[in-house]
Amino acid sequence: MTVRRSPLVAADARRALPHPVGVGIRRSVDGQAPALWPEEAAHLGPNSAQGRRFSFALGRAAARDALAELGIAPTAIRRGPSGDPAWPDGIVGAISHTGDLAVAIVGRQSDYTGLGIDLEQLSPGLSLRAARLVCTPSEMAWVGDAGGTHRGTMLFSAKEAVFKALFPIERVWLGFGDAELEWQPERCAFEARLLKSASSGYPSGAVLPVQCTLTDAEVLSTTYALPRRAFERLPHLRTPARSSSSSEL
Ligand SMILES: CC(C)(COP(=O)(O)OP(=O)(O)OC[C@H]1O[C@@H](n2cnc3c(N)ncnc32)[C@H](O)[C@@H]1OP(=O)(O)O)[C@@H](O)C(=O)NCCC(=O)NCCS
Repeated sequence: MTVRRSPLVAADARRALPHPVGVGIRRSVDGQAPALWPEEAAHLGPNSAQGRRFSFALGRAAARDALAELGIAPTAIRRGPSGDPAWPDGIVGAISHTGDLAVAIVGRQSDYTGLGIDLEQLSPGLSLRAARLVCTPSEMAWVGDAGGTHRGTMLFSAKEAVFKALFPIERVWLGFGDAELEWQPERCAFEARLLKSASSGYPSGAVLPVQCTLTDAEVLSTTYALPRRAFERLPHLRTPARSSSSSEL
């Protein structure tokens, strides 16, 4: 797999998505975060930790940038009851932040039933103990038993992106063991097969592609769920062809 130099760019998040999306990427170079809207600040409360306020504000700013790409005027983005962003009507999307960086992706509900994005720093990497909690046995075989490798972080990030794309649809909680991922080196992507139903359109056995971009500092994972009609036009997403080998990155 190609390892790019940082920084990430919007094209990394858009790669291989079938319909238009808005992408926002915000990096704070001076440790300052953009202002929150009052409705957003109310979710945090007056005594929230400074770090949490910083990442929440950076994520909201990235989300407004992403919405602007779809022509949507700046608006407060509240939190849903389970922590998921409450997007304007007709919009789906996701937010992720790590360190001084935040990313957001949004699309139209007529194109997508869900969009997921996740950003993780590569260092220090997922410990072996954490990898064992996140991975199924076949994923563990791909990650290897050294701990702290890029593969563990990529897999973790891809699963978080899957969760963010699917949870808001019918609010079904998916644990790390509820999807099994297989690396597709020719596409720089994982194929994520659900082992539990996430929604009527994404039952057990359904497959989501999860694009991965690896830079020298972080991994970015992006995935999407399609409305049922569009999903049925892409039958390869329902009946994955599993390869038997786990190729090098
Ligand atoms: C919710 C979760 C995915 C967040 O991921 P994270 O790596 O900890 O943090 P990130 O910065 O990438 O993402 C945080 C953002 O996720 C979003 N988020 C939180 N809960 C969410 C939910 N239930 N559904 C969708 N998005 C959610 C929010 O936008 C949040 O940022 P904000 O609070 O500033 O708005 C993670 O903490 C979690 O609970 N994971 C367990 C479930 C899982 O991943 N299962 C794998 C299934 S295959």
